[in-house]
Order: sequence, then C-alpha cells, then structure tokens
Amino acid sequence: MAGDADTGRKPIMAGNWKMHHTHLDAIQVVQKLSYRLSAEDYERCEVVVCPTLTSLRSVQTVIEADNLPIGLGAQNVFWEEKGAFTGEVSPPMLAKLGVSYVIVGHSERREIFGETDEMVNKKVQAVFKAGMTPIMCCGETLEEREAGETAAKVSRQVQAGLDGIDPKQVASMVIAYEPIWAIGTGRNATPEDANDTIGTIRKMVAGLAGENPAAAVRIQYGGSVKPGNVAAIMAQPEIDGALVGGASLEADEFAQIVRWA
Ligand code: PGA
Repeated sequence: MAGDADTGRKPIMAGNWKMHHTHLDAIQVVQKLSYRLSAEDYERCEVVVCPTLTSLRSVQTVIEADNLPIGLGAQNVFWEEKGAFTGEVSPPMLAKLGVSYVIVGHSERREIFGETDEMVNKKVQAVFKAGMTPIMCCGETLEEREAGETAAKVSRQVQAGLDGIDPKQVASMVIAYEPIWAIGTGRNATPEDANDTIGTIRKMVAGLAGENPAAAVRIQYGGSVKPGNVAAIMAQPEIDGALVGGASLEADEFAQIVRWA
C-alpha cells in the first residue's frame, strides 16, 4: 500500500452522501468521479463513496462493471445478522453487495436517532465480523468544546467504541473525528486544532490497543471540508484523510478534494 512517506498510512477520502441522490443521480456522480480521477490519484489516496441504501446496488454495479478502484461504503447498519427487525439492514447483506466500509456512529445517528456508545460498539463488532471495515465517528458539541470537554468526550466515545475489539482490527479500521459544530455549518476546526485532537485520539488508541495499532489506524477529519481548505487539513501530520459530506455530492468538487495538493 502506497502511504504517506513518514507515517506509512494511506490517506482515505470518503464521501458521505447522507440522504441525497436517487440511485440514478448516484450512478451519474460515481461515473463522473471516475472520469475526473486518474490511476495516480487512486495510488496516492484511497477513495470511498457512501451512498444512501437505495443507491448501494447501483453504485456497486458501476464500480464492478468499470473495475473502478473506488471503495463502496454504507452509512449505517444494524448489528444483528437477520431476524424480525423491520426496516434494518444486516452486515452480511451489505458485505454481499460489495460494501467494504460502513460509517458507524455518525453524529447524526447519535443525535437524531439516539445511538449510544454501546450501540456503536455493537455495530463496530458486527461490521468486522462480516469482513468489512468500520469508519467510526466521534466528536464534541460546541457546548462541550467551549467547556473544555473535547478530549473527555472523544475519549469516552473511542474507548466505548473500541471495547472488545482485537488490536489487529483496530489497526485496520478508520476513525473519523468530526466536531459536531463543524458539520454542514461552513465552520471548521482549525487544522492545528483538528490535528491536536486527532493526536489525542491516537494516544488513546495506543493506551487501549497498543503502539502498533495506534501508528497504523487511519484517523480522518470531518466537518465542512471543501476544495479550498483540504490542503491545509491534509498538511497536518496526524490527519489521514477526510469524511466529506456536502462537498462530496458533486463529482467535480469531490475530485478536487481527492487531489488536494
Ligand atoms: P459536511 O459533513 O462535510 O457537510 O460538514 C461531514 C459529515 O457529516 O460527515
């Protein structure tokens, strides 16, 4: 795996399309994205798109038909494999669709749909069990930041999320640090602040899983990442990529983020 010369970690840019794009729109976006990106771009950085559930199959078909080196991610999952859980989708169902990443514990899931740290942990375990990789999100609210509680909040979320996870799995996963006040607001953490918090998360991972997994785990920043600010964010040594919402919806904009420098 080609990675950052110093850290050995390959940056990962993931587009979280949230509840946007019908499957027809999604097909167009992923096709356009593939026209904009070159083999060199994929070599330098892993590219993942996370469409809504109804678009997963269509996007997977495009990726497979054109043999695109674009990873397919889901935005959520339930932890049970099957059963009477109306409206839910299981990890094996996603894995069978060619999904390789699953966003777990996004702040919108936590805040709007009541996901707890314990539920996030069950999902992380279930995603691994099905052979996929979780992108586990954490982040503080504005009130928590202003009260100086950022590190405590993020520690709690990471510690709970990683509970019982094998250190080798920890090394292979992705963590996304997303300050809630920066999501969709146009405000983002300064690159230095984001780097500091991500450094704190890495230290915490070292304490929980060991130095090697901490050095290997990729930690993204998320929250109002745009073509205009991505280079400064990616210049930070602890930051291994971005989880991008609004600016991933258009192929041109997301392609600019993927080729940040
Ligand atoms: P944003 O969303 O880029 O629109 O701020 C990021 C996210 O919620 O993952």
